[in-house]
Amino acid sequence: MKRPVAYVAGMGRGVPARVMTNHDFAALGLETNHDWIVERTGIVERRIAGPDETTCSMAATASRAAMKRAGVEPGEIGAIVLSTATPDRLLPSTAVDLQAELGAAHAAAFDVSAACSGWLYGMTVAEGLIQSGVVETALVVGAEKMSSIIDWQDRSTCILFGDGAGAAVVRRTRKDETRRGILSAYMKSDGTLAELLWRPSGGAKVPFSEAVLMDRSSFVRMAGRETFKHAVRSMADACDRALEGAHLTGHDVDILIPHQANVRIIEATAKHANVSMEKVYVNVDRYGNTSSASIPIAIDEAVEQGRIKEGTTALLVAFGAGFTWGSMVVRF
Ligand code: ACO
Repeated sequence: MKRPVAYVAGMGRGVPARVMTNHDFAALGLETNHDWIVERTGIVERRIAGPDETTCSMAATASRAAMKRAGVEPGEIGAIVLSTATPDRLLPSTAVDLQAELGAAHAAAFDVSAACSGWLYGMTVAEGLIQSGVVETALVVGAEKMSSIIDWQDRSTCILFGDGAGAAVVRRTRKDETRRGILSAYMKSDGTLAELLWRPSGGAKVPFSEAVLMDRSSFVRMAGRETFKHAVRSMADACDRALEGAHLTGHDVDILIPHQANVRIIEATAKHANVSMEKVYVNVDRYGNTSSASIPIAIDEAVEQGRIKEGTTALLVAFGAGFTWGSMVVRF
């Protein structure tokens, strides 16, 4: 097992107060119902941002909580790596808005685009920045206002997603500290499958126009069944790779924190990784799919509940649009 280069010094989350239950879809005139949604996805409710909440504001709440836990001041942050599929605007990045909001004057700030896998991609980027000697301390944030890009007239997608943010402060592991830290990481993508989960228009190729507005093609579209199959297969692969990298098996894992998209995908992932469901953290019932915010929100809750303590070995695994997938073994 490699000596860890970087460790997680503190976690935080920032989620909207407003709760939208499955029953609330009736008011939108959608033909769906609570039982269908729970049976197919495990989702009961999700958080939806209010008019004054932005990707940056949720990210700032999560970041301040993580920095407080880590005992780190904004001026100590060397890099802000912010993963989002819902930047507040397209230029410049949401990460620089977050930098300004936090007053992190010494940081280099940039966004990462890898959909639901983005926070794990960001963690690996931060570890690399620390390993290369560029920074000592990084802030890695997953922040998503999914309610702004989903088609509220499409019952097959709008029931799945929610808003929120999670953040980690990642620091260089001290020389005398050999136990704590990122023990392995794995990342993979397959761009040939991009159109199974995408926003067809609204970017540089098909810019926003009246036609785009009318055909609703700037909203998220997803081939649900295909996505489901690839998610199960790819998350299984990712679990194997992270465990191999850390020279561990599923039995050595104290907690499995998978991307929270669908409880059936989570159960299949746990079974493949040989981790019993009692060791799996599940909050998809309360948040829905918050894309790249889902894993850091779940870690933060698990810390708060005492399910993650110093010495806990966690397997993290994600899958998202691209397709992208990735995993990480972290000892807290
Ligand atoms: N309420 C009621 N009926 C619905 C709804 C709804 N909200 N949505 C779809 N249906 C209907 C369909 O129209 C279809 O009806 P038909 O048989 O008359 O055509 C029927 O239910 C079955 O639809 P399927 O799409 O085949 O249902 P499935 O069992 O596959 O479940 C779901 C759909 C929940 C979307 C599932 O495919 C899934 O979870 N896929 C993975 C999605 C996912 O995890 N994406 C995110 C991963 S990547 C990321 O996080 C960005």
